[in-house]
This record gives sequence, C-alpha cells and structure tokens, in this order.
Amino acid sequence: MEKLVITGGYPLQGKVRVAGAKNAVLPLMAATLMLTGETVLEEVPALEDVDTMVQVLAYLGIEARSDVPGQLCLKPAAEGVVAAPYELVRRMRASFLVLGPLLACRGRAEIPLPGGCAIGTRPVDLHLKGMQALGAEVVLNQGTISARAGRLKGCHIYLDFPSVGATENILMAATLAEGETVIENAAVEPEVVDLANFLSGAGAKIKGAGTSIVRVKGVKELRGTRHSIIPDRIEAGTFMVAAAITGGSVTVENVVYEHLKPVVAKLMEMGCSVSVLESGDALRVDAPSGLKAVDIKTMPYPGFPTDMQSPFLALATQTQGTSVVTETVFENRFLLVPELKRLGANVRTEGRTAVIEGKTPLTGAKVKAPDLRGGAALILAALVAQDETEVHNLYHVKRGYENLEEKLAGLGARVRLVVDN
Ligand code: EPZ
Repeated sequence: MEKLVITGGYPLQGKVRVAGAKNAVLPLMAATLMLTGETVLEEVPALEDVDTMVQVLAYLGIEARSDVPGQLCLKPAAEGVVAAPYELVRRMRASFLVLGPLLACRGRAEIPLPGGCAIGTRPVDLHLKGMQALGAEVVLNQGTISARAGRLKGCHIYLDFPSVGATENILMAATLAEGETVIENAAVEPEVVDLANFLSGAGAKIKGAGTSIVRVKGVKELRGTRHSIIPDRIEAGTFMVAAAITGGSVTVENVVYEHLKPVVAKLMEMGCSVSVLESGDALRVDAPSGLKAVDIKTMPYPGFPTDMQSPFLALATQTQGTSVVTETVFENRFLLVPELKRLGANVRTEGRTAVIEGKTPLTGAKVKAPDLRGGAALILAALVAQDETEVHNLYHVKRGYENLEEKLAGLGARVRLVVDN
C-alpha cells in the first residue's frame, strides 16, 4: 500500500497546471458507445477512474489507445456485450453512465446496481425513471439492472433533483431517440455542458445545455469526433485552497474562471486575494496573513460545489472564528472529520452541518483517506500541520488527482510517496 508522508509548515509558491476534468471525461468516454468511427479525446487526465472506464468500455466492445500523453482514441471494435462487470461498477459508480448509451444503441443493458459509497446511498432512481420515460423496460433482479428497449422515444422528463449523472444518462440516450426529448430541472454543471458540446460535435441536436431546460432532437447516427476536455475545476480549487492554507502564493493554469466563481468568492470572503490572469485561463491566489471564518452551504452549480466542501472544511480549521459548513447535496460527506481531529482540529458535526472552531494549530499524525475529496482535504491539512503526517489509503485520492504529490512538490511542499510493505 502507498502513503504520502508530508512535513507541514512550508508556504506553497509557484505555478501548477490543472488537468482535464475527471467528471467530464468519464461521461464522454461512456458516450463513445453510441458513436460510429473513431473519437479522439484530448486533455485526458491520467487517473485511476479513467483507467477503470477504459476497462469497462473494453468489456463492452470499445477499443482504446493512447499514442501521446493526454490523448485517448476510442472506437467500436466489436459488437461488445451489453453487460458491465460487477467488479468494475462496484469500483466506480460512474460506470453506471453506460446505461443510457447502451440502451440507445443496442437496446439492452445489464448493469449491476452501483453500491452506495462512503459519502451516501447515492441511489439511481432518477436515472431509471428517465430510461423508463424514454420507453425502456427496467427491472432489478439479484442486484443487476436489466433494461430493454426498441428504439427509444423522445419524451418530457422533470427531474426531482438536478442530478448530474441522471441528466447525463438521459441526455445521452435522448440523442438517438425518435423525436424530441425535454429534460426539465436538468443539472447545469460545466461537465454536463462539456458532454453536450461533445455530443453536438458528433452530430447530436441539443439546445439549452447549461440551463435547467434541455431540448434534444433525436438523430439516426452519431459519428466519432475530436474533443478537448474542459479543465478540472475541483483540482484547480484544491490547489487554490493549498495556497490559502499554507499562507502561500500559487498560480493555477489551464482553468475556466467562470467555473470557479463560487470558490473564488469564498476564498476572497476569507481574505485571500485572487487575481484573474491572461484571458481568464489562469488564477493567482495570494493568502492573507490571517484567514477569516466563513459559512459554507453546498448547492448544485452555480452554487458552492459539494466536491470542494472537504477541502474547505480543512481550510476552516486555520481561519479565525467559527465556521458553519452545511452539506446539502450528499447525506454523509463529513467522513474526514474524525481524521482531521487526529491532527488537532476542533470540529463537531450534527447531521449535514459541521461547526469548525479556528484557528487551531495542527500537528502531524497518521490519518486515513476516507474518500476522494476527504483524502485531498487531509493532504491539505497535512501541509500546514507541524512535523510529519502520514496519509494512508491513497488509492481514494489517485482516483481523481493526477500526480498530486509531484504537483505539490513542484510548489515547494515537503511531500514524499512511500510504499508501505
Ligand atoms: C457527480 O456525481 C460527480 N461525479 C460527483 O463527484 C459530484 O459530487 C456530484 O455529481 C454532484 O456535483 C461524476 O460526475 C462522476 P448527482 P453524481 O446525481 O452524478 C441524489 C467527485 O468527488 N440522487 O448529482 O452521482 C444523490 O444521492 C464526485 O468527483 C438521487 O437521489 O451526483 C445525491 O444526494 C463525488 N437519485 C444527489 O442526488 C438519483 O437517481 C446528487 O447526486 C441520482 C442522484
């Protein structure tokens, strides 16, 4: 097993380039099931989750190859099976995003119901309601979703919650359905817009992506295309917090400022100065001498992103005053709190609310990453903790951050990757 050993107390300085967005590349890869011919994706991040999705697609008959770093070529190799393997779906919920594409182009899908994960039960009821509304028959037997359909038929769907994944599954399926589909209360996250732009490049007819009403006119065929993935706003935000928590000055390059506005606003409220550089594709964060406590409430985009909640919870331990963090999107996204307390943080949680008293000096300890963003948050806390911190269960973090230790070391962090026998 691997662990990160971090010696805290060094303000981070310098520049770091943000990779392509994990939560954009995964649905785009699933969509290639519906495309004829070859698709070339660029700015593909080197992540475990991308490798897992390559394995899922290989199982389903999509051949993937990468001739140059950051580029991924995908094309249908054979009439693959319609069943996604349990082991892979269990490892990564985003595998469920092959449901819509499989139904749209093969009329069948056998996908294990993705388990809940650390941060909540994460049901898929909205995905299934969408598929049924498009004319699919969906049954659950022995933990596997079996779906069947002739040609899907366009319909009018109202989502009870602007679910990112459900919006993406329905959007993909609708592109090859007969007639028009209207998705109301659709998710408006930038990753949904990137998927819609990719599908339009393949010949889909989509209007309104990025707004809560998306209209799709079904077409007969989608063709392979070339697409560059949008930058990862959560990786960018994580490095911006790294600057703030260590009292440093960091420039994050390859960002879309628009996607980071809720994060920038919060950092400025805490006293950081944030400069937009060049044409908005780089931001510099300069930490103040003392950070102010703020309240945070996570919301669907363009509200404060739930994936930035854990990093900001770690940051809140270094602000002066009382911070109240409310997690409205997931029901159990405070798993890092017991680990943060091992470092000396003063946090108490009550349901979906955490109250953090700051500023508390943190001291190094052995901690375990509980999930992807919680693990990133513990690494951020370790950067400011005195002495050495060991962060275990790194596999969580490698799912969503490309070469994190190298990028942090490049900013002056004292961090080393140790293989633990
Ligand atoms: C996507 O997950 C992201 N993952 C998550 O990022 C992100 O936190 C989330 O969107 C919210 O922004 C990917 O894109 C691969 P949801 P998703 O459906 O699609 C409930 C990370 O750290 N819900 O918008 O699963 C659900 O339980 C990950 O990168 C239903 O009730 O999120 C949750 O409470 C974590 N029924 C809420 O909606 C459904 O059918 C938001 O879920 C679907 C969702």
